[in-house]
Order: sequence, then structure tokens, then C-alpha cells
Amino acid sequence: MKLSVIGCGYLGAVHAAAMASIGHDVVGIDVDQRKVDALASGKAPFFEPGLEKLLEAGLAEGRLRFTTDIEQARGSAVHFIGVGTPQRRDSSAADLTFVHAAIDDLLRIVGEGEIIAGKSTVPVGTAAALAERISGSGAVLVWNPEFLREGWAVADTINPDRIVVGVPTEQGERTLEGEHAAEVLRSVYHTATAKDTPYIVTDFATAELVKVAANAFLATKISFINAMAEIAEVTGADVTTLADAIGHDDRIGRRFLGAGIGFGGGCLPKDIRAFAARAEELGKRESVAFLREIDDINLRRRDRAVHLVVEALGGSVFEKNVTVLGAAFKPHSDDIRDSPALDVATRLHGLGAHITVTDPAAIDNARRVSPQLRYVDDRDEAIRGADLVIVVTEWDEYRRQLDPEHAASLVAGKIVVDGRNCLDAQAWRAAGFAYYGMGRP
Ligand code: UDX
Repeated sequence: MKLSVIGCGYLGAVHAAAMASIGHDVVGIDVDQRKVDALASGKAPFFEPGLEKLLEAGLAEGRLRFTTDIEQARGSAVHFIGVGTPQRRDSSAADLTFVHAAIDDLLRIVGEGEIIAGKSTVPVGTAAALAERISGSGAVLVWNPEFLREGWAVADTINPDRIVVGVPTEQGERTLEGEHAAEVLRSVYHTATAKDTPYIVTDFATAELVKVAANAFLATKISFINAMAEIAEVTGADVTTLADAIGHDDRIGRRFLGAGIGFGGGCLPKDIRAFAARAEELGKRESVAFLREIDDINLRRRDRAVHLVVEALGGSVFEKNVTVLGAAFKPHSDDIRDSPALDVATRLHGLGAHITVTDPAAIDNARRVSPQLRYVDDRDEAIRGADLVIVVTEWDEYRRQLDPEHAASLVAGKIVVDGRNCLDAQAWRAAGFAYYGMGRP
């Protein structure tokens, strides 16, 4: 099928390349010429494992193109919208400027019977309003949220664990055009639907809410275990053992019970804030008031990590050499948006420490937003002479591949703070380090 993807960021670029890889003829459109040029030459403008391989294959086979010209989307059976919906500068609500701009562009070229499929994360009620805006164009709007995780985006797009499609309804019944559009999307995702991937067709509001509810749930799970870490810290309990033990209950599950410096990135923080803001507009502030608490618990973990470093260094970090292992908001990503790792590093710098940051993928991005820090590519060089080492992103390079004995031979002071509870505490202690975890004795 002929498809277009408007917006070629994390979501759109991966979606375009993945759709080409399963046989579609795809044009990706973005207003950023530099991004388009990079993608068109097979280069991913951000770090995402497996993406460049898909780009190269799609470009070589002639099934994938990138352009700034919306005219190139003319005649596509489905136009996906994958633009960003960042947090507004003046409030915690979502900024829908890019979504509206994409609709404006599409209205110039869209044809009778074509489908506009929104993938961006939007406040509930947005799709209904956009459907009004496009009425008269002959196109049908559906909302098809994306659940991809950075670092696993290619696999998540080609093999999603569920597909959700919100279609237009009239008096609570799905319209015929809506049902038809859902069938078209089913054939777009033919590799997944052939494998009986759950395919959920619903109304706009439910589809929009599925996405924010999933992210709110995940954020809640992380903040729940971090709240337990706070209690563990005053009782001498070990939150890691606690998480293992409750995780054995398969109603609870161990995933997303990793206590540490908390969640960040381009999605969870802004999505829970936008959800709370939207609930307030709907007169349902109290229904998700707990999300503000989730946000507060999350941010307190960064304070805790800074406090641990200060404490471990005897009450002051002034002029101490602190090596920060990690800058990305999570491993397998170069994304530093709302990164707890970088936040901890800049705060320690603000307290007068000499900060050296290293990261396998995120240094260039981190340097752009926090140029005051010192960045070193080589992990061992970064560690050399440190009075304290703090792990803030659980890359394998630090978690598995950094031998504590080897680290001991490089540092000036044997103190390690494990901001992600990802190190083998015993091994580090055996190498002579004072080990500090998050919610661990
Ligand atoms: C998230 C959702 O998982 C995804 O479904 C949605 O589409 C977009 O938002 P992503 O932002 O890529 O994806 O990151 P995710 O893997 O969910 O991690 C989010 C943050 O939570 C990271 O900072 C991570 O370090 C942190 N985290 C995760 C924890 O602190 N503890 C955990 O146990 C798990």
C-alpha cells in the first residue's frame, strides 16, 4: 500500500522505515530539512538499534522516501501522523501545535476515502475535534496510538503486543467508514495481524485513553516501588529484595519495579502531566490527582541521589571529582529529554563538584543542553581519579562490563553510588568500595 508518515522523529521515522520493511511504499515527511536529508541518506538522526539497517534496505529497494514536500503524500491510502506533542511551556498540558499543523498540511492534499491515522499521544477529545475539522474533505480519521519503547522501537513497531484503532462513532455505534478504515489498517499491519496480535477496534476516546492510561500505569508502578524505597531507607529494608518478592506474585509482576532515580524521557513525565491537566479540564481533577503524587515521588528520587553523594563524600561535594556513568534517560538510547541522569549530574555540578560524564550514546546530546559539564568518551578515562562514581543509567557497559577490581585500580576514592540498583553490591564491596544503593542498606 502507498502510505505517508507526517513527522519523522522517534515515532515517525521508525514507523516509516518499519512499514517499508513489511512491503509498503512509504513517504516520510518532515519540516526539518536536516532530518529529512539524514534519513534520505540512510542515517538515523538519533540512536535507535536496528533503524539504520531498515532505512538502508527501504531506500535501496525504492520503497522508502523522505521529503519536506507534503505534495508527495498525495494519493496515499493512509496518512499517519507521528508528530510530537511536547509539554506546553506555560502549563503542564500537551502542546498540539504540530498535530494541527499536520492536519492543515494534509487538508491541502488528502483525497476522498483516504485515511488519516493519528499516532501521536494526544489528550482525550482531540480526535473528535480533529474529525470535525476534516469533515468535508472526504477523508476518514482514526486514532491508532503507538506504544513503542525507545531502544526497542523497531521490534515494537513490527511486532507490537497489541494494536488499538479508535474509529468514528455515531450515537455510540461505529460508522461504516470507521469499520472500513479499521479493516484497511488491519491490512497495513498484516505481519502482526497474521500472528493473531490482539487487534482492538474502539471509539476515539478509548483509543486516546489507552495510551495515556498505559503510561500512567507504568509511571505509577515505578513511583510505587520508589515510595517503598523511601520507606526502606528509614527502616533498613532492601527494596530490591522487596521488589523480587512481590514480583513473584504474577498479579503484580517484577517488570517496572526497578527502584532508583526514577523515570524520565520524552513520554512518561509529560504524558502523566498532560493527563492530569486534561482531567482537570474535564472536571475530574480528583480522579487522577494521584498522578501529581507520582510525579513528586519521582522527582524526589533525584534529590535523594544528590543527597547520597553529598553524604558519601562527608557532607560536601565542593571541588570533589565525581564521575557520572550515564546521561541518557535509559540505556539503549541517546535521548536526554527529562533525563534523571543528566539532572543529577547538573545538580552536583551546581553544588561545586567537578563532574565528568560519560555515556555510550548520549554525550553529544548531553553536551548541547549541559555544556558546563566535562564529557569523556572513554569509560575508564572518565573514572580515572574520581573521588566518587555514580551510576545513573544502567548501560551494560557499567552494570555488567565494569569490573569493580578494575574500577578500584582507576579511582582516587573507593565510593560508588548505584542510582539504578543495577550493580552487584557484594562484588563492589569486596573490591573495597563503600557501596550506596537507592533504598538498600
Ligand atoms: C515509554 C513506554 O514504555 C512506551 O510504551 C510509550 O510508548 C512511551 O513511553 P520509553 O519512554 O521509551 O517508553 O521508556 P520506558 O522503557 O518506559 O522507561 C521510562 C523510564 O522509566 C526510564 O527513565 C527508565 O529508566 C525508567 N524506569 C523503567 C525505572 O525507573 N524503573 C523501571 O523499573 C523501569
